[in-house]
Amino acid sequence: MKNEEAPLRIGLIGFGCVGQGFYDVVQQRPELGLVITRIAVKSPDKPRTLPADRFSFQADDLAADPALDVLVEVIDDAAEAFRLVSAALRRGRRVATANKAMLARHLPELVQLQADFGGTLLYEAAVCGSIPIIRTLDQYFSHEPLRAVSGIFNGSSNYVLTRMAEDGSDYGSALAEAQAQGFAETDPALDMGAFDPRSKAVILAAHAYGVFLNPNEVLNLGIEGIAAADIARAAALGQKIKVVAGLYRLPNGRVTAVVTPQLLGPESPLYAVEREFNGVVLEAEFAGPQFLHGRGAGGHPTGSAVLADVLALRRGLRYGYAKRATAPAVQLTEDLVLDAYVRHPDVGVLREVLTWLELDPEALRTDAHGTYATGAVALEQLQAWRAELRQLGVFVARTGEVRPAAVPADASAAARAALV
Ligand SMILES: NC(=O)c1ccc[n+]([C@@H]2O[C@H](COP(=O)([O-])OP(=O)(O)OC[C@H]3O[C@@H](n4cnc5c(N)ncnc54)[C@H](OP(=O)(O)O)[C@@H]3O)[C@@H](O)[C@H]2O)c1
Repeated sequence: MKNEEAPLRIGLIGFGCVGQGFYDVVQQRPELGLVITRIAVKSPDKPRTLPADRFSFQADDLAADPALDVLVEVIDDAAEAFRLVSAALRRGRRVATANKAMLARHLPELVQLQADFGGTLLYEAAVCGSIPIIRTLDQYFSHEPLRAVSGIFNGSSNYVLTRMAEDGSDYGSALAEAQAQGFAETDPALDMGAFDPRSKAVILAAHAYGVFLNPNEVLNLGIEGIAAADIARAAALGQKIKVVAGLYRLPNGRVTAVVTPQLLGPESPLYAVEREFNGVVLEAEFAGPQFLHGRGAGGHPTGSAVLADVLALRRGLRYGYAKRATAPAVQLTEDLVLDAYVRHPDVGVLREVLTWLELDPEALRTDAHGTYATGAVALEQLQAWRAELRQLGVFVARTGEVRPAAVPADASAAARAALV
């Protein structure tokens, strides 16, 4: 099918994994009428896959160039990305970005800039790579109440967990393998410490519930302290450990957000999400449960999402953020608990951790793999001690959903509703 519209002139800022992937998918679809007119990168000395005269080193020039119809920002520097994107929006421009860290930190300002100056920002590629979750929430479920949006939003940590479960690899060698495969960042803390999926949960909260969360206030626990013993214990129960980022509507109507490792059985669709894949489960009030599964990272899958945004920008699509008008109150940690599994290889440290988390020493258990503890822990305690837990390499996973402190773990849905 021939495209009768004038070619859309694109300024591409960043030519790494995502920038090159986007460039490649555009080249493979010439009939779409997209032309990548200018490309800006950072380092003049890097070898490139295109002739040197295709590149400039002044991204600001692209943001200001009136000959460009759309800007695609895919650099790896969140502060610089915010500067460039906000300058472009102040000029009323149309922009697509993949930068989840920038969005999570600055979403309210970026939405305001669009309202003030008439520009548009789309960012499908920023959450779960190729999975069209933002548009699904923003456009399709714009008016349907959602009970929960949860999922595996980080392919690197999921790859590590899969490899550990497959052949009993320890954490260090599974991480080294993920890095060698190009799935993990050079600094693995963002992925393994669950900072990256937390950014994605914050972005989804704006579309799923109309709330803007401060990422620092959302509890995130990662897998840096995980060991083969944790995987083995989960396997003995017929379960797997996955890092689950979740947004949940509480029985009192408020919304909470939490990102932690979680033990899951085969009844969860997330149980089957392996390696670098991502998965999202929506629990919609009227539509019921939905599950989206796909590649969460990589040049072509992420480039595909950027392409979809660029075409949507040409059609004049803007996010509606429809639920902002009826946004519920947020309850991040107060009066909430989760049923936790807690382990540290040093039993003395573990005992100390139990006092921080206000868990009874009776919670300690010993089996063939060593010592661990289980019990209901207040989210406030986990949040208060999260830096220390991370520093000491304590592994904490939830074994069930977040619930109000007043509700027993085994309460029925009706009893839960009656208690809050
Ligand atoms: N990789 C993925 O699968 C994936 C998936 C979803 C979202 N994202 C997000 O997409 C963005 C890009 O990720 P990536 O993996 O493509 O990063 P990357 O491979 O490290 O590439 C980053 C690119 O940005 C350029 N750059 C950095 N600072 C710049 C500046 N000030 N001006 C112009 N160019 C600049 C770099 O230039 P040089 O080439 O000169 O170094 C490089 O071309 C990040 O926000 C990331 O979180 C990535």
